[in-house]
Amino acid sequence: MDIREAIRERHSVRQYKAEPIAEDLKEKLDELIRECNEESGLHMQLIVDDPECFDTFLAHYGKFRNANNYIAVVGPKELEDLDERGGYYGQKIVIAAQMMGLNTCWVAGTYGRGKCKAARDPGEKLVCVIAIGYGENQGQKHRSKPLSKICGVPEEDMPAWFRNGVKAAMMAPTAINQQKFFIALDGERPVITAGRGAMTGIDLGIVKYNFEAASGHKCW
Ligand SMILES: Cc1cc2nc3c(=O)[nH]c(=O)nc-3n(C[C@H](O)[C@H](O)[C@H](O)COP(=O)(O)O)c2cc1C
Repeated sequence: MDIREAIRERHSVRQYKAEPIAEDLKEKLDELIRECNEESGLHMQLIVDDPECFDTFLAHYGKFRNANNYIAVVGPKELEDLDERGGYYGQKIVIAAQMMGLNTCWVAGTYGRGKCKAARDPGEKLVCVIAIGYGENQGQKHRSKPLSKICGVPEEDMPAWFRNGVKAAMMAPTAINQQKFFIALDGERPVITAGRGAMTGIDLGIVKYNFEAASGHKCW
């Protein structure tokens, strides 16, 4: 599975098998998380075999089952773009996990923040978590806003690389599927901006990662 297929096939999964994550995959995830932390200054952590974090009223209400493993997205409070950075590097791990045959769900609300087992140094903040494991299902394709609401360039005028990026951005997970982002072309440079509201910073990082991974072009 290549990265574009992984982006296409990844959907939120909230019900997992009770099976623990295989040792070799755990090692691969830990290694990738270590690399991402080094590059980003974040303090993301893989927590496995912890049934408590998703043992809350909201998590049950949100239909989470056997969500016993998660990646905690933690980083320095002082980083102005902490949410965006968490979104970007978290999504890098999410797509790699999909390629390893694992399923995921970004979760900022329906989990027990106080029950999260991640270590936090003073001055660090828990941005959100990402449930991870072997899904009971593969999730479902989300409904998307029409392209014209998401991108200022008409489809017929898009260079092929840009179209690939936009399509991958439209497939990106966003909080409550809000898709509050906008993609433009400034000369040769793709520019993605976030709309206002809760979680749009995390969404922006996720969308930028998808765009870059599918187009091969860095965006601003
Ligand atoms: C920042 C963020 C926060 C999210 N928080 C929650 C949450 O608290 N509970 C939940 O069930 N899903 C949550 N989601 C999952 C979204 O509902 C889901 O990604 C969106 O509906 C799009 O579906 P897809 O991931 O299948 O493409 C969150 C997603 C993002 C990106």
